[in-house]
Amino acid sequence: MTISIGFESTAHTFGVAIVNEKCEVLANEKHTHTTESGGLIPRELAEHHEKYALPVLLAALEKSKKKLSDIDVYAFSQGPGIGPALKFGAYVCRALAIEQKKPLLGVNHGVGHIEIGKALTGAKDPLTVYASGGNTQIIGLDRGRYRVFGETLDVGVGNLLDSFGRSLSIGFPAGPKIDEKYFLGKNLISLPYSVKGMDLVFSGLLTAAEQKIGKVDENDLCFSLMHTAFAELTEVTERALAHTGKKEVLLTGGVAASRALQQMMKTMCDERGVDFFVPPAWACGDSGLLPAWLGLVEYNAGIRMALSETTVNQRQRVDEIDVVW
Ligand code: ATP
Ligand code: FE2
Repeated sequence: MTISIGFESTAHTFGVAIVNEKCEVLANEKHTHTTESGGLIPRELAEHHEKYALPVLLAALEKSKKKLSDIDVYAFSQGPGIGPALKFGAYVCRALAIEQKKPLLGVNHGVGHIEIGKALTGAKDPLTVYASGGNTQIIGLDRGRYRVFGETLDVGVGNLLDSFGRSLSIGFPAGPKIDEKYFLGKNLISLPYSVKGMDLVFSGLLTAAEQKIGKVDENDLCFSLMHTAFAELTEVTERALAHTGKKEVLLTGGVAASRALQQMMKTMCDERGVDFFVPPAWACGDSGLLPAWLGLVEYNAGIRMALSETTVNQRQRVDEIDVVW
């Protein structure tokens, strides 16, 4: 059975995972750089990854009871992400693959989120709602590529929650705390609802909510901010379903852990007779599992890369990848 190792380093997480063809996770180790402010400084990310790469790799090997020579495919997240962080993961993976004389694949981080989500939930051809700190996109397979049907034009929805949390001084990441407050809020406060065509803009919502801090009940404000942002996301998802005719929704990315978002999406899906899937929380965020599994899928589909094709690409989009598997 083919075994793949994946290296994830697009942003704050350095992760190494080892997975087999049945999508059995033999190891999934990671370390995440955290800051009080939540802001990501490229040089600090690279330093973090440099510090944790070896311990994380050794922990993954030990957990999986595999040696580097047992592994058939070496994969890493090629983009999108933050340059110095991406490069570090790529260097590590390349060096090991060359030393072991094994195939090396650079894979797309967003496609990784989709494919691991499909593999773990059984979704076949979903419309994927990828909602994380840095990204918010509604994606579906169409004519051989994952097309983006709608996306944020400014910040990711998780970033909106974290920025608002910073203004409330409730610590980082704020998403889980705001998600708890959502269920304590009783009154919906009117805030700017901004859907542009199929795209989303969150900055006006953030500013308006920040201006109400101290003037209205905090739980009501958290409820209203989240409700407004998620209603926008749900509306665009519903329209993309109508457009594509897809019968499944897959919610992934770190914000997929939100019970509020899950409830709203599920209600919409139930009303439309669409199946709703959320991978387990450990598989929604960034980890080595994304490149490990996608690398294996691509390898089994016959994809091979020359070393020169494995340069990182900070702005690589999901719709640049030919889905031949
Ligand atoms: P990417 O690189 O894909 O953009 P990321 O760096 O944002 O990912 P993730 O782990 O995918 O990392 O997502 C983290 C985000 O998820 C944070 O913004 C955090 O506040 C949010 N989040 C985590 N749990 C919850 C929750 N229960 N409810 C709402 N938001 C949550
Ligand atoms: Fe991610």
